[in-house]
Amino acid sequence: MRPRLPGTRPRPCGADLRAVGSALVLVLAALAAPAQAGRDARMPASMPAEYASACGDCHLAYPPALLPAGAWTVLMSGLDAHFGTDAQLDEAARARVADWLRGHAATGRRATATASDGRITRTARFTRKHRAVGESVWRSPDVRTPANCAACHPRADQGDFDDDDVRVPGHGRIGR
Ligand code: HEC
Ligand code: HEC
Repeated sequence: MRPRLPGTRPRPCGADLRAVGSALVLVLAALAAPAQAGRDARMPASMPAEYASACGDCHLAYPPALLPAGAWTVLMSGLDAHFGTDAQLDEAARARVADWLRGHAATGRRATATASDGRITRTARFTRKHRAVGESVWRSPDVRTPANCAACHPRADQGDFDDDDVRVPGHGRIGR
């Protein structure tokens, strides 16, 4: 028998490697899941030109997958009174943008519980994902409004909201 250090037990090598293997699978799964959760709103390459110019003028050109089709219909039918501003487009452009938004809208469980005003920031999903953000942070001068996604999500314009990249002004990384 080989000499052993006091306090150690002989370990069967095969079982050990299998344990390491399954632990690695679990770690990889844990890493993959949140990354997907933050990147499922990627901006589709087919974006009509007027979407960036007209809808990205006052705020982020929001990726269509942040709202279900019904919410986009409501929003695109009331552009003359759009959250206190006039965001009207000519009818051809409006129809093109509305069709594109609906065609790439949120589906399945991401499409639930949207407030009647069509706000992304009042969807159940938004509220759940931002539980860690306090009211004073939303109202701070660098953020101003929850609608200002890019203040904390550096790649919001590409529809990338991965929680690994979040930087909250004045707080750095939070939520981890
Ligand atoms: C004040 C900073 C701030 C603003 C503004 C903000 N977020 Fe976030 N967001 C966060 C924080 C903090 C988290 C949680 C990070 C964590 O849990 O590690 C988060 C998480 C998310 C997630 C989940 C990411 C994942 O990997 O699961 C999504 C999606 C998201 N935000 C979308 C948005 C959208 C869309 C907007 C704009 C309408 C927005 N956020 C505005 C700070 C912000
Ligand atoms: C003249 C400026 C202006 C234009 C142009 C404009 N918006 Fe907005 N939009 C606003 C303002 C102001 C708000 C409210 C922001 C806030 O609450 O801080 C808003 C909010 C939104 C929200 C909700 C954000 C939230 O709080 O969840 C969506 C979605 C949106 N706009 C989509 C669009 C689309 C689509 C277009 C193009 C058809 C568009 N906007 C064009 C000014 C504009």
